[in-house]
Amino acid sequence: MKSLVESQMVIIFGATGDLTRRKLIPSLYHLERKKLLTRCTPIVCLGRQDYSREEFLQSLDINGSVDNLNSQVWQSLAERIEYHRMDLESVLADDFQSCIAGIRQRYACAGNSLVYLALPTRVFQGTARLLSTLQEQTGWLRVVFEKPFGEDARSAAELNASIRSVLDEEQIFRVDHYLGKELVQNILTLRFANTLFASAWDSKSIDHVQITVSETLGVEKRAGYYDRSGAVRDMVQNHLLQLLAFVAMETPKSPNPESLRDEAVNVIRQLEPVAREDVVLGQYLEGEVDGDRVSGYCQEPGVAADSTTETYVAFRALIDTERWRGVPFYLRTGKRLGRRFAEIRLVLRQSADTAAIFGPVAANTIIIRIQPDEGIALAFNVRSPGESGRTESVLMDFCHHCHFGPNTPEAYEAILRNVMLGERNIFPRWDWIEASWHYIDHLRAVAARPVGYAAGSSGPLEADTLQAGNHHVWHEGVTRQILPLPFHHVRRSD
Ligand code: BG6
Repeated sequence: MKSLVESQMVIIFGATGDLTRRKLIPSLYHLERKKLLTRCTPIVCLGRQDYSREEFLQSLDINGSVDNLNSQVWQSLAERIEYHRMDLESVLADDFQSCIAGIRQRYACAGNSLVYLALPTRVFQGTARLLSTLQEQTGWLRVVFEKPFGEDARSAAELNASIRSVLDEEQIFRVDHYLGKELVQNILTLRFANTLFASAWDSKSIDHVQITVSETLGVEKRAGYYDRSGAVRDMVQNHLLQLLAFVAMETPKSPNPESLRDEAVNVIRQLEPVAREDVVLGQYLEGEVDGDRVSGYCQEPGVAADSTTETYVAFRALIDTERWRGVPFYLRTGKRLGRRFAEIRLVLRQSADTAAIFGPVAANTIIIRIQPDEGIALAFNVRSPGESGRTESVLMDFCHHCHFGPNTPEAYEAILRNVMLGERNIFPRWDWIEASWHYIDHLRAVAARPVGYAAGSSGPLEADTLQAGNHHVWHEGVTRQILPLPFHHVRRSD
């Protein structure tokens, strides 16, 4: 693995939030464990809470977020973690600048800075004046913006203009952590490094595609953010459309990251506007998840009793390109569903000859399991032994963990590593974000109000009306009929 030997200061805004505790600090720990950080990498955490350094370190609850913590590694990282109370709205730019300069002097560090804005999108603009003070230093400045980038096309454009007034495009890293997931990065290898799959990847072979991100979690303690956002803006504008772009893009013209990003943008620009009857929104009602009774969305703390925010969305997307014209892409995501998984299924067409000889058989299907139990499977038909000679669907199954071991980097580790290396391929470019917001704004405008679904179910029954034929199926029951094998038979042991 390429080393990140350059010294750099990591500055985290919003350091007392969940993201820092659950993802950023554990990812920095893993980079430290792999010896990818130099001793000259102070981690400067800025937040509004009045913590001492010790209290802040305690609040990180590192034992709770890292398995089998190596205390020596943690000690060496923790020594470099600083905490400073700072209110972004009131802090003077000069005070910020001298705080950073003081730390830099103490660590005798070069001028490189990685700034991570783990903040709500509406606060991003307020950081511009502070970021401009870092422009004066020597060395590189890279600024990471957490998703969502804006709340709609207009606010995203305003935000972009504001940060572009102080930062160059190559200093800006807009995060979509799904692009850091190993199996998402694998989609391109699967497609473009395998003749077998490359030749099946178009409307001649593919009947339809299903992209599903199903969560068992509810809104947790994020009502303040989530109730303004809803599933479409929280999950579809970014994660699901990125998955769609990776599945549907044309072959990048060169290995240059910009070529990859060009092709991703092209997919989003070629999406046809969604029709009202092709989108179903849902909101979870009380029910049972993993054996526990859970309350409905409107009874969650911080959510208004009459909230109409959607916690589920399913829709049919069509892409107007030579490769995909007429092939439906079904995308769905929801909170408080019965099972946690994210996967992509490409269901292949069946030829008339097959039916004439064998009668109805299961469709060949390519399954990319993003999580859990990461892997790639291919369902195909074989003759079962014995007199009957029945046709049965079986799986060829590649289990990522079994083959590569348990040390696959987590998405945020890949994200931090790539920013440190200045590698941009897993970060959406502004034109991608702009195009996706236009698509999403339209979808939100046409969608009917959310319908209820029981927590622990597979979403609203209304979503099944999106089916456009017998094998355009959504819910698990029917999916299992197509593919009767247990996909999640390989369990992680770590
Ligand atoms: C985040 C959303 O971007 O992704 C959350 O804001 C969601 O609502 C999360 O739970 C899902 O990420 P993952 O990696 O757990 O699938």
